[in-house]
Amino acid sequence: MKWVIGNWKMNGLSESLHEARSIGDGVGGWTGKVVSMVCPPATLIARMTMHCAGTPLEFGGQDCHAKASGAHTGDIAAEMLHDAGARAVILGHSERRTDHGETNEEVRAKVDAAWRAALTPIVCVGEVEAERDAGRAEAVVEEQLTASLPDALPAQENEDLIVAYEPVWAIGTGRVPTEADIGAMHGQIRAHLVRRYGEAGHRVPILYGGSMKPDNAKAIMSIADVDGGLVGGASLKADSFLAIAEAAA
Ligand code: G3H
Repeated sequence: MKWVIGNWKMNGLSESLHEARSIGDGVGGWTGKVVSMVCPPATLIARMTMHCAGTPLEFGGQDCHAKASGAHTGDIAAEMLHDAGARAVILGHSERRTDHGETNEEVRAKVDAAWRAALTPIVCVGEVEAERDAGRAEAVVEEQLTASLPDALPAQENEDLIVAYEPVWAIGTGRVPTEADIGAMHGQIRAHLVRRYGEAGHRVPILYGGSMKPDNAKAIMSIADVDGGLVGGASLKADSFLAIAEAAA
């Protein structure tokens, strides 16, 4: 099974409901081969869920607070995302780490919040360019995994985990690591998950994110331990989302 998850970031208004519906109608052909999901701005989750009813398209949030409720102006609880129709939530995206100073420890607390609300956490890790140039990419990702992921997976079914490797320098730049570099990093992440979670670590999907487009999606998703893509810009339009889903199938 491959995963194609669109991260719409801070893009989308009411008119985007049609785009989501086109994606939902289009992805039906790959049911059973590809899980397709859009993570729109939180304001659109409930309406998209209704607008896309009857299609296999799923929805996720882009962040959540660690607590279930309380005096946290502007924040959204995992339970609220679930209530709106989300089944997953992106956590620790590099834009959250940079714009909001999110730490690995905060991401870890949010993973617990996601599980508490029956959402699948999609935990993002990845090095910045200077770290790769300094030969530290593997060490940085290892450190992020160690500190951002809880020590045990929950026992209950449907409360799982997805990891997304997103080299920060590849996000929105049109630059992509070599296939060898993607393979090496995904292999390292898989080894970490298996060391940490035993057999269950083999079942955690590892997605690649960073300038994934229709023309490179098939090659990237053919690399060992690449279980799909976390797609930004190319997920905003139905034609490119569907081309990537087709490449995944
Ligand atoms: O979460 C998605 C990533 O940040 C990738 O964004 O596909 O626009 O490079 P991009």
